[in-house]
Amino acid sequence: MSDQDVLNVINAVYVVAAIMFIYGMAQLRRPATARTGNRVAAMGMLIAIVATIFDREIVSYHFILPAILVGALIGAWMARTVPMTGMPQMVAIFNASGGIASALVATAALIRFNDAGTDVEVDTAIAIALGIAIGTVTLTGSLVAAGKLQGTINQNPVLLPARNVLSLAMGVIVVGLGVALVAVSEQTWLVIPLLAAGMLLGILLSIPIGGADMPVLVALFNSYSGLAAAATGFAVDNNLLIVAGALVGASGLILTTIMCRAMNRSLANVMFAGFGQSGAVVAEEGERSYRSVNAEDVATMLAYARSAVFVTGYGLAVAQAQHELRKLGDLMATRGATVRYGIHPVAGRMPGHMNVLLAEADVPYDQLYDLEETNRELGQTEIVLVVGANDVVNPQARTNPDSPIYGMPILNVDEADSCIVMKRSMASGFSGIDNDLFYMDKTAMLFGDARNSLRSLVTEVEEIIKNE
Ligand code: TAP
Repeated sequence: MSDQDVLNVINAVYVVAAIMFIYGMAQLRRPATARTGNRVAAMGMLIAIVATIFDREIVSYHFILPAILVGALIGAWMARTVPMTGMPQMVAIFNASGGIASALVATAALIRFNDAGTDVEVDTAIAIALGIAIGTVTLTGSLVAAGKLQGTINQNPVLLPARNVLSLAMGVIVVGLGVALVAVSEQTWLVIPLLAAGMLLGILLSIPIGGADMPVLVALFNSYSGLAAAATGFAVDNNLLIVAGALVGASGLILTTIMCRAMNRSLANVMFAGFGQSGAVVAEEGERSYRSVNAEDVATMLAYARSAVFVTGYGLAVAQAQHELRKLGDLMATRGATVRYGIHPVAGRMPGHMNVLLAEADVPYDQLYDLEETNRELGQTEIVLVVGANDVVNPQARTNPDSPIYGMPILNVDEADSCIVMKRSMASGFSGIDNDLFYMDKTAMLFGDARNSLRSLVTEVEEIIKNE
């Protein structure tokens, strides 16, 4: 087979892989087909890697094969051991890996051109500069995001004096170094300050952002990692890298937009406003009265309810209480109640967090309702159980124009006949503001860890059924 024949076969396999990526992503749109979509896309990546290994430009396999083995082992280990609550951090680390990989490949491409004494075309030099700049911003920005999400870095926004000016100045330096690299691309050493400036910019962009806004940043860096890969794809003339990078870049951007819209905040507000900083208002416990109930009382209400909506939030993820919640839902359904699970798009700490948790507990997909669907039902619902959710059910978003969450679409649980809120205390949620829902006449608080409380509720409802 001639080198050209091999290249043609590789490109043909790349087209198949690209189709599998796109098909896989389309399947991710529905929970019922998401697993298949994931497998198809992963299979596409596998055949793309295998095809790439046959590239005739590869000089030696001594590093490639052990690297594939080590990478696969680390990936498999992470997939098995990382808990559901650690998923956002894991995605951030993947983005960081994508960013540094793109930056290194782009750097290697430049070194190769210069070592061979070949002139670097302007468009290739631009691609190299972009791959390095975006890749390094993604690397450090994502690592800071992962650290904040994991709690190893202070989750509060770190607000340096004149931070926006500083970020802007660093952005200008990165662009300047990129332009210089394009202008005198034979000066390989210019890569070093560009790498350093890109890394600094990544840190400057992410440290002012509060821990719970990290998912937006992770999605944005996801998009950046795609753009870096696409740029590097141009640099090394690899079609699949361009296609895959563009897909990741576009989907990351769409996700970022969806999240910002769901919080009714602009991307600029997330990036530069220092939202969720310490010193935010905390719940003014004691000044307003609320009603506290015990599991026995709640179980009686649930056992005889005809319709219920379960609204879940970050606390459900922390408590890992999804299985107990599903058990409770099943018990109520066997007694003829209509049980729905209402999902807010930004409930939890990552996009689709609640969908993943509830799917893990095998909650039937037809019981999962999105924001609009749930809100249509809430007015006719007898009882709402809010499990570890706070901001996403705070009526202030509708009623208080001075509230930081004003305008954020929420689940209108206060429209149901009654509402039970399960959490450990009267503490505020991520936004740091008090929740008017807790003080309403129709609301009762069931305090405790969500998993323990749900266990008690399941036991109590079973007891009621037994004694009937
Ligand atoms: P939050 O408003 O953060 O409230 C979670 C509540 O869970 C807390 O008030 C906490 O109260 C309770 N909790 C914690 N551990 C618990 C446990 N073991 N058992 C029972 N309850 C527990 O969460 P949410 O309602 O899901 O809202 C998400 C927030 O994150 C929103 O403000 C949203 O804008 C923000 N955010 C989300 C995303 C994405 S993509 N998900 C992106 C950016 C921002 P106690 O401490 O009293 O128990």
